[in-house]
Amino acid sequence: MSNMIKLEIYRYDPEKDDVPSMQSYEVPHEQKGMKLLEALNYIKWHIDGTLTFRRSCGEGVCGSDGMNINGVNGLACITPIAGLKQPIRLRPLPSMEVIRDLVVDTTHFFDQYRQIKPWLQTTSPAPEHERLQTPDERAELDGLYECIMCGCCTTSCPSWWWNGDRFMGPAVLLQADRWIKDSRDEATGERLDQLEDAFKLYRCHQIMNCMEACPKGLNPTAAINHIKRTLLNRKS
Ligand code: SF4
Ligand code: SF4
Ligand code: FES
Repeated sequence: MSNMIKLEIYRYDPEKDDVPSMQSYEVPHEQKGMKLLEALNYIKWHIDGTLTFRRSCGEGVCGSDGMNINGVNGLACITPIAGLKQPIRLRPLPSMEVIRDLVVDTTHFFDQYRQIKPWLQTTSPAPEHERLQTPDERAELDGLYECIMCGCCTTSCPSWWWNGDRFMGPAVLLQADRWIKDSRDEATGERLDQLEDAFKLYRCHQIMNCMEACPKGLNPTAAINHIKRTLLNRKS
């Protein structure tokens, strides 16, 4: 194992730079199992404090450090250095506007998320205690509730690159399916009505980049197919 890790990182400060550039760094490979986020933190704290990236939990939970790592979207905090070809090339998530360096503007992504009303909707009176589910009903949410809205899938989806103004993208559709499948939710009809649209849902062409990009091992394509099937079944 080499003692130094080589990285090339996308740099762009719109207040100073006319065009983006790639900057090289070398970071000591301090311990076995070191993650990519630790290398970025090392640069930030010891080499170049101007390098800008998002991170918070460091555990694959908050979804804030999604980036393009050697051409593949992923989370820096759970990506081991050992498995990466060097120099490790880091770019911001594709197809989102760059605010600075590895930080992208997620405004539109989260606007689309708000559109699907990602919360429990009910009209029946609240029970005295919690709204119960059977174990089987709860199991329906497996593979969906784990989504952390990191955007790695959506920004790897060609349909979203081309029609992101109207196509909801895999992350938001997986989240929509999470609420459609929730036995406690009473707005299933409205949720399906909202998605029955040539662009919002049906712009998914099953290219499956989303599934390959998800650092949590989720399958947005399956969720999208479930929504399509549910729409078909309610018509027949
Ligand atoms: S399967 Fe659909 S949502 Fe996933 S990357 Fe392909 S077009 Fe996008
Ligand atoms: S489905 Fe996976 S890649 Fe997409 S936002 Fe959720 S956790 Fe991230
Ligand atoms: S820092 Fe929270 S998911 Fe990586």
